[in-house]
Amino acid sequence: MTIDHTQTEIPAEWDRRGLPTWSFFSSEMLEAEKDLLFRSHWQLVCHMSDIPNSGDFIACDFVGERALVIRGHDNQIRAFHNLCRHRGSRVVGQDTGNCRSAIICPFHGWVYNLDGTLRGPAQPQSLPDLDPLEYGLKSIELDIWKGFVFVRFKPGPQPPMSQVLQRFSKETDQYNLGTILPSGDGYWTEEVAANWKCVRDVDNEGYHVPLAHPGLHDLFGANYHDEPLRSGISKSIGSFRANAGRQWSVRNYVSILEPPQDLDKDHQNAWLYIGIFPNLVFGLYPDSVIFYQEFPIELGKTIQRGSSYRHANENRRMRLSRYLSKRIDRMTSKEDEQLIQWSWEAAFSSGFDGILLSDLEYGVHSYHNALREFFPILNENEPAEGMLALRNTELLSSNTDQN
Ligand code: FES
Ligand SMILES: [Fe+2]
Repeated sequence: MTIDHTQTEIPAEWDRRGLPTWSFFSSEMLEAEKDLLFRSHWQLVCHMSDIPNSGDFIACDFVGERALVIRGHDNQIRAFHNLCRHRGSRVVGQDTGNCRSAIICPFHGWVYNLDGTLRGPAQPQSLPDLDPLEYGLKSIELDIWKGFVFVRFKPGPQPPMSQVLQRFSKETDQYNLGTILPSGDGYWTEEVAANWKCVRDVDNEGYHVPLAHPGLHDLFGANYHDEPLRSGISKSIGSFRANAGRQWSVRNYVSILEPPQDLDKDHQNAWLYIGIFPNLVFGLYPDSVIFYQEFPIELGKTIQRGSSYRHANENRRMRLSRYLSKRIDRMTSKEDEQLIQWSWEAAFSSGFDGILLSDLEYGVHSYHNALREFFPILNENEPAEGMLALRNTELLSSNTDQN
């Protein structure tokens, strides 16, 4: 397969201004985003290989929700609210672990089976009879794509992940994602002092790579292409430049890497990123697979979370390559973190007059357009206090009527 590097048609005239500044500072906007984006879109929790044995679980919190993904005795993977039916305690207190034969709530000791049904409350004589299903853990919608486990707290317009990712399936199919294994480094989280949209705005363009990411620039040079968001996914690919290696990590990475034969020529020496609306990016490298996502905490506080995986048949040389690609990645995310914070702080400055996007940042614009589909309110001035959700719903329904 040959990569189609054709750049997306960029119109001669387009609105280069980005999102209105008020949308970064509105608490009502943030609450609406939590609901229409984060709760109503599939959110990646883990890979099946993170929880290989019965009772293994991963818990993950975002926008006030608590997800628990657990493997049952029947080998089934299920997703629940991490919420005891007695008084709402977490039923598991750690982010990862094993529940052995049952989930025991740490508050008063109600016991749940691994399939979520209630086995029994502590001191049952003190309570009426409780139906195991009715008082079982509450399920969350679950979807699994190539071993990656997604949950969704509210119904939404996004189709199953296999459909979302269909457009790039010829590329993703090569990476044997179903058989990857955890790298052993666990899940990382990082708090960023910025609005979550600043994180996306920095991540959605490669215009900043030559200056801001010396490591990536060394690795890819001009061979870096963005394909803006369309139908909920975007793609960036960086093919290694012929004379890569000014930096120690990059030099050693390209010389040690023995590209897997499962990958076609275009992907043997390239890093492929697949972005999934609204907040997830997969990095598919010859040596490893990573993902990262972001969740808003407050207007100016965001949590980034991610993990990395190795290929099942990794040899010593591949392990070394993976170590080096991780080094390059770590530098990149530190560099981005700084840029994200500066973008956020800019809006507090009395000199800030909005932004002006280059054609090379059209990906930022395409992402904003996708946001505007959920938030037509972004085309207006900030609504009066208390009116945002109502006005946005009005606009959404008048859009539906027009279609
Ligand atoms: S809150 Fe779980 S047993 Fe009481
Ligand atoms: Fe970056």
